[in-house]
Amino acid sequence: MDFPIKKFLSYYKPYLPVFLSVLTCAVIMSAVALAFPLLVRYITKDVLEGDLATALSEVYWIGGLMLVLTVIQHLANYFVDYKGHEIGARMESDMRSELFTHMQKLSFHFYDKEKSGQLMSRITNDLLLVSELYHHGPEDYIKYLVRFIGAFVILLFINAPLTIAVFCFLPLICVFVLYFNKILNKALLRNKERIGDVNAQVEDSLAGIRVVKSFANEHVEVTKFNRENERFLDSRRQTYRAEAYFSNGLETFIQLITITVVIFCSASIVNHSLDLADLITFLLYIGFMIEPIQQLTHMSTQFQEGITGFQRFYEIMRHKPKVDNKPDAVDLNEVRGEIEFVDVVFRYEDHLENVLDGISLHVKPGEYVALIGPSGAGKTTLCSLIPRFYDVTDGDVLLDGIDVRDLSLQSLRNSIGIVQQDVYLFTGTVMDNIRYGNPEASDEAIIEAAKHANAHEFIMAYRTVTAQRSASGV
Ligand SMILES: Nc1ncnc2c1ncn2[C@@H]1O[C@H](COP(=O)(O)OP(=O)(O)OP(=O)(O)O)[C@@H](O)[C@H]1O
Ligand SMILES: [Mg+2]
Repeated sequence: MDFPIKKFLSYYKPYLPVFLSVLTCAVIMSAVALAFPLLVRYITKDVLEGDLATALSEVYWIGGLMLVLTVIQHLANYFVDYKGHEIGARMESDMRSELFTHMQKLSFHFYDKEKSGQLMSRITNDLLLVSELYHHGPEDYIKYLVRFIGAFVILLFINAPLTIAVFCFLPLICVFVLYFNKILNKALLRNKERIGDVNAQVEDSLAGIRVVKSFANEHVEVTKFNRENERFLDSRRQTYRAEAYFSNGLETFIQLITITVVIFCSASIVNHSLDLADLITFLLYIGFMIEPIQQLTHMSTQFQEGITGFQRFYEIMRHKPKVDNKPDAVDLNEVRGEIEFVDVVFRYEDHLENVLDGISLHVKPGEYVALIGPSGAGKTTLCSLIPRFYDVTDGDVLLDGIDVRDLSLQSLRNSIGIVQQDVYLFTGTVMDNIRYGNPEASDEAIIEAAKHANAHEFIMAYRTVTAQRSASGV
């Protein structure tokens, strides 16, 4: 799948002014950070080695300037931290709401194939990773780019040969970081898969806990769980080993650079081609050049995870509901309840066999019809064609003489009452659940209906009645 870059960037649109301000603040932060070693150099080199009579007032002035810069840096930092994260969270919330709304529109076909656990992780984890990339990505790249280029240029002005010597280490570090980046990414992915396996095992065992207990098979479940848990532990052990190699290797490189600078600078000081202030400045700036490379692993992981998260989000977003309203769909107002199946053929998927084959059926308004047949005969399937949970493969289903595909889904489904085999209770009060079929039903109407049924029958029956509204006889 090509990466939908336009769609990816479109989520920035509502927050563009604030986002650009965050980026500007990131540049300011880095520029101010770069200025500090220069000021230290100015004090040690120009002020303290110049006329000491005026030195004190200059030191105070520079101290004051440093204070002002610190305030600016912290204000910018605060803005980036606060507003940057807020933008990320807002974009994530926009995407989450869009995804959930879209999922509500998708038809039964989609839910037949997707697991709800997987879908939940798309709504929560995946989008979290995307939002991390949305706000940290551009901010980090800009921040480190400014620091790296800034430090390089400043050092080049101070001492070109030494800067080039330090620079020679950088490709080596890059190769080292990229090599370990690959290993670490693989290890992190494996960790994710294995913790997924642990979760799946827990879900499986706990969902079937009654079966487990009735067979007294707790030890079987514990063995299965421990196997997954061990695999996860093993994968984490390998990750930590790679991380230890990586961070220690990087540390060694940084020390090698420091040693090079100290030796090179000291030799140059002896030759009078450099002074102590330059040595200090070099040591202070080296960090600025190395930090972006140190962060490469983190940034590339963040990038990959964000991009994958977005692709998984987009995969669902581009699913079109198989059953949808026609542009000129009509609303069903007065329902008589005449149902007709005309030569209906239906299969769930093109590659599957027909469940219904040439079914014709006519149900008159007010007539009661019972479908009787063995399990798997297609009774539920037949009924689910009337509210268009699925569309026929061939033939027509008519309600009051109108093809159900010409009716608006909302009005069609509002006119049909369904009593499910399994009652699903939504989170909320019993009253909320009863009212699900008709959110406007008054408490009195519900209590009146309650007098005539037990709780289970009542919830289903009442939902049905309120959903039916005008559909007598369906
Ligand atoms: N979502 C689906 N995807 C693919 N095949 C399905 C799906 N739902 C049902 N089937 C298949 O369609 C056939 C008819 O199933 P259906 O549920 O309509 O039978 P039924 O008569 O309602 O059975 P029961 O008496 O057990 O409720 C069965 O072979 C079933 O395996
Ligand atoms: Mg059935």
